[in-house]
Amino acid sequence: MILVVGGAGYIGSHVVKELVETEEVVVLDNLSTGHREAVDSRAIFVKGDLGNVDDVLMVFRSYPIKAVMHFAAYSLVGESVMDPLKYYQNNVASTITLLKVMMKFKVKKFIFSSTAATYGIPDVKLIDETSATTPINPYGRSKLMVEQILGDLAASDGLKYVVLRYFNAAGAHASARIGESHDPETHLIPIVLQQLLGKREKISVFGADYDTPDGTCIRDYIHVTDLAHAHILALQALVAGKKSTEVYNLGNGHGYSVKEVIETCEKVTGVKANVEIADRRAGDPARLVASADKIFSELGWKAERNLEKIIADAWKWHRNQEY
Ligand code: UFG
Repeated sequence: MILVVGGAGYIGSHVVKELVETEEVVVLDNLSTGHREAVDSRAIFVKGDLGNVDDVLMVFRSYPIKAVMHFAAYSLVGESVMDPLKYYQNNVASTITLLKVMMKFKVKKFIFSSTAATYGIPDVKLIDETSATTPINPYGRSKLMVEQILGDLAASDGLKYVVLRYFNAAGAHASARIGESHDPETHLIPIVLQQLLGKREKISVFGADYDTPDGTCIRDYIHVTDLAHAHILALQALVAGKKSTEVYNLGNGHGYSVKEVIETCEKVTGVKANVEIADRRAGDPARLVASADKIFSELGWKAERNLEKIIADAWKWHRNQEY
């Protein structure tokens, strides 16, 4: 049985939907940002908090867990700057609680959600896994700290793990039954689609004076279903003993500017956006684009869904949003 911590969240719920096809799954989630409705009905759901050791022990005592996928984290850069202890408490301290219980029950296979924010402001065009990790905010640091802890546990206790560093996760399940639903929403694609649906008055582009071709920031958007597939492959590689301590980027290798994203949303939906140019948002690097060559050559994974597909699926979800 696979334990998915944070399986009611945006990315976790999409992975659970794939995972239940082949595995028995138990989800542990405190529903602080996740949605109970997002958890596939074939998975067992336990409401509990990673920071509460009794909740975690109860799950390990009740189910024969063979591996853990960990999605339960706060992930807003700006909030992490305002309230760093919230991030270190939840993203680092609670993860230590989980790892302690895993070691106690001799569960030694772990898939960890990390982030492009571990790279900070990179000075390379395509970021690969050997690029310097110098995060510039508490969120990125909290994820990098856990990556380092995993390395130490591999040496001391034989933990086997795969770290997946996501670039900009976006899109929704093709069924439109699950998708991205944050409150408040801060991410570009949902904000644009909400505006096109009339739920927002305008879209603010945070800075048009960056050193990029059209002056707006460039990001590497990756479909959440492609992300989910990478988790399945990583788990299979760990279970088969083919991989033991790996870090992989998950991106498309193509960057799109904020303006290009808005234009693509207009094209896919046929609706005109109301856009204003606003000040830069603190902490935004001009360009973050992944090289995902490593996971392609080692696990055969590559992103299969382009920006238009990401936006088309997100649009279906937003028009029909269930939670
Ligand atoms: N943007 C706007 N207007 C908006 C929202 C976003 O112009 O209303 C811009 C941002 O300034 C940025 C781009 O759109 O240039 C993408 O912004 P998102 O907030 O969608 O995503 P980020 O790139 O800021 O964040 C993502 C992940 C984080 C991760 C970070 C790494 O969501 O978890 O990448 O830098 F930490």
